[in-house]
Amino acid sequence: MNIAIFASGNGSNAENIYHYFKKNNLPVTVALIVTNNPNAFVIERAKKMNVPVEVFYKNDFYRHPEKIIAQLKKYAVDYIVLAGFLLKIHPEIIRAYPNKIINIHPSLLPKFGGKGMYGDNVHKAVIEAGEKESGITIHFVNEEYDKGEIIAQYKIAVNELDTTETLAKKIHNLEYKYFPKTLEKVFLDEK
Ligand code: GRF
Repeated sequence: MNIAIFASGNGSNAENIYHYFKKNNLPVTVALIVTNNPNAFVIERAKKMNVPVEVFYKNDFYRHPEKIIAQLKKYAVDYIVLAGFLLKIHPEIIRAYPNKIINIHPSLLPKFGGKGMYGDNVHKAVIEAGEKESGITIHFVNEEYDKGEIIAQYKIAVNELDTTETLAKKIHNLEYKYFPKTLEKVFLDEK
């Protein structure tokens, strides 16, 4: 089972997923890391993990999806995992990988999803809204993006002392704990 991980920035989830499958000897290989940002730290992480990296520019993602699909086929990718990827996935890529694209979003969708809702913007909005809980949503990506079928959600309490930073830390810990396990269920149970 080959997966490609798409990431635009730090890539801590990408590295966490890589190590989870490796150290548990699971039949899942991170065959490729794709990014839209030539300065993304995920590129450094990929070098350490000895995973090939492909950098595509916004124009490729939005106007030449066939270029990305060709690379995915070259690496015989079965599933695409979006881990902090900030661009919309072109419908042609979604059609080429039906129910095979999984995203993680750092809120309890449908709350705090949609345009501009990524990273700390989400945690800031959750705190400003006075929410008592937040969490992560792992979902399939369809053409409406954050509205794909939800695979799993994990919650944490938000208290009045929380700041954007403390909430971000709690959410990242949830991601590291649950994202790889949830992916394993999808990949290997094929439910
Ligand atoms: C994570 O918080 C994830 O929920 C969101 O983007 C962030 C990615 O962080 N989609 P990293 O690049 O994996 O460190």
